[in-house]
Amino acid sequence: MTDQKLIPEQSGPAAEAFLSVRDLRIHFDTDDGLVRSVDGVSFDLAPGKTLGIVGESGSGKSVTSLGIMGLHRSKRARISGEIWLEGEELVGASADRVRQLRGRKMAMIFQDPLTAMHPYYTVGQQIVEAYRVHHPAASKKEAKVRAVEMLDRVGIPQPDRRVDDYPHQFSGGMRQRAMIAMALVNDPSLLIADEPTTALDVTVQAQILDLIRDLQQEFGSAVIIITHDLGVVAELADDILVMYGGKCIERGPATTLFDAPEHPYTWGLLGSMPRLDRDLQERLVPVRGTPPSLINVPSGCAFHPRCPYAELTGGRSVSELPVLTEAGPGHHAACHLPTADRHRIFADEIAPRL
Ligand SMILES: Nc1ncnc2c1ncn2[C@@H]1O[C@H](COP(=O)(O)OP(=O)(O)O)[C@@H](O)[C@H]1O
Ligand code: SF4
Ligand SMILES: [Mg+2]
Repeated sequence: MTDQKLIPEQSGPAAEAFLSVRDLRIHFDTDDGLVRSVDGVSFDLAPGKTLGIVGESGSGKSVTSLGIMGLHRSKRARISGEIWLEGEELVGASADRVRQLRGRKMAMIFQDPLTAMHPYYTVGQQIVEAYRVHHPAASKKEAKVRAVEMLDRVGIPQPDRRVDDYPHQFSGGMRQRAMIAMALVNDPSLLIADEPTTALDVTVQAQILDLIRDLQQEFGSAVIIITHDLGVVAELADDILVMYGGKCIERGPATTLFDAPEHPYTWGLLGSMPRLDRDLQERLVPVRGTPPSLINVPSGCAFHPRCPYAELTGGRSVSELPVLTEAGPGHHAACHLPTADRHRIFADEIAPRL
């Protein structure tokens, strides 16, 4: 991962990256004003690796992923920056070109499979359709064989029968599996999973996360997993990017983010992670207050109205935007607190409660 301060000189993809996002901004013109949903996000993802994007609701996670997929496009959307997928830049690419890549090179699964699946077509018809868009030479019969194979691969029992069911005939967990089958039918090299387990109960959640991990190993695809729950990415992600108010406020290797997080907002997220070995009272240290408006973003550090340490920065938290600075190898955080203060607060106040 690179330092955001260097980005203007560093446009273009990183050599070893499969996906490089550079200073991505996606703003929407609305009747209430300009919504800065994504406001200068940069990251790199290496082939076959997993990036977790984490943040509370409304922090710009979904808009980031829709932007990569080219699905944000509307008359009211303004996008800038660069998205490099295997050496090809997508922000400046035509809608047709992005449509060709979508489904084949990059695919997405959503929290609610019913938004991605049509109620009036069978699961099989939809997987067949997804396959044939990118394999026009395949017959319907061949595509259906492929659909059954994929349903089998994602763990749907009796796939040769279930292939003819409608989405509503599947349970929530099975529908999620079917959507994963549809997303992977063309063997994409990038899979984006946006809150893939949020609507599911805990046991099914764990099964779906295991499935994603197994499939990733089998297919070798890079994965972006988006969640408001750090627990979901704890075992899955190689790297984690924390978003707040449309910006990346901390990013780094997952182990570092869990063991030595630098940003007070990340501390809050870690403190609010459910832990089986604590009772509820003790373990929940939620981030107080509510996420910021993306129309009237607070000045300086957007987190300052909620940050317990904002007064320790001599007014800079309110007046000056903190930029991502290096905290360790591949680890960056955007906070004005002097490093020594941050480490002392983390060791004395935060770590003992995690
Ligand atoms: N098409 C749109 N027009 C205007 N505002 C939008 C649009 N899509 C998303 N937003 C706003 O962008 C912000 C970020 O949304 P989103 O990326 O969905 O958040 P998250 O996925 O982190 O919960 C929210 O304030 C949301 O209301
Ligand atoms: S810059 Fe200030 S308000 Fe923002 S996280 Fe750091 S201490 Fe808190
Ligand atoms: Mg979302």
